[in-house]
Amino acid sequence: MENTTELGFNRTGAQSSPLSVHSMQIYADEQSPHAAPTSDGMPDGKAIASVRSLYVAEAERVGSVPMPGTVTGAFNTVLSHLRGRNPEVLVDKLGERLAFERTGVRLYQALIDKATVLGGLETLPFTIADLQKIRGEELEHMHIVASALDSLGADPTAQTPSADVSAVASMGVMQVLTDPRTTIAHGLEAILMAELTDSDSWNLLVALTEQAGQDTLLPDFRRAMQNENAHLLKVRGWLRSVVLGEGA
Ligand SMILES: [Fe+2]
Repeated sequence: MENTTELGFNRTGAQSSPLSVHSMQIYADEQSPHAAPTSDGMPDGKAIASVRSLYVAEAERVGSVPMPGTVTGAFNTVLSHLRGRNPEVLVDKLGERLAFERTGVRLYQALIDKATVLGGLETLPFTIADLQKIRGEELEHMHIVASALDSLGADPTAQTPSADVSAVASMGVMQVLTDPRTTIAHGLEAILMAELTDSDSWNLLVALTEQAGQDTLLPDFRRAMQNENAHLLKVRGWLRSVVLGEGA
C-alpha cells in the first residue's frame, strides 16, 4: 500500500451530488429532535438532557478502588498526608498510569509494525530504533508504577476506575494504529493524542505523589515525567515533518 493520501472517487460530500442536497436537508430536518431552537439556532437538546440526567442520577460508579491487601507504612503515610480527602485517589491514579503505560507499549509496537512495512516506501523522520527506545521506556514506566503500588500494599493487577475510564477514552487510538489502511501520519496523529495525555498525567501524578508524602517514589516518577515530555516533543516533531514534508 502507498503511504500517502491520494485523490480518489470519494463521494461522501454534498458536492458529489448537488441535486440531492435539498432532499437530504429535508430528511435531516425531519429526523432532528423536535425541539425549539435556542437563540443561537441550535436545538436545545432538552429531551436528551433529561434522559441523560435520569441515568446519571441512578448510575453506580465505574468500579471501585480495592483496599490494599496489606496496609504498609507507606500507605499510612498517604493516609496522614491526605487527611480529610480520599487516600484511594493515589491508588486509583497509579492504576490508571499503569494501564496507560501498558497500552503505550502496544501502541508503539503497532507503529513499529506499520513503519517496518511502510518505511520501505518512503523516508520516515524516525528510525525503528527510535520507536523501540520509546516502547522500552513505556514498559519501564509501567514497572515503576507497579512497584509503587506494591510499596503501598496495593494490587498492581487490579483495574481501578480511572484505569477503566482511560482505557475506554483511548480505544480509538489503538484502532487507528492497528488499522492496516492507516498511514504513518495517521498513526503519529493518534500517538500524539496518547502522548499529550501521558505527559499531563505524569505531571499530575507527580503533584499528587508529593501531596501524599511519597518522597521515595518521586525520583523515578520525575524521570518518567521527563521521558514523557521528551516523547511528546519527538512525536510532535515527527508528525510535523511528515505532514509538512520538512527534512524529507
Ligand atoms: Fe510516552
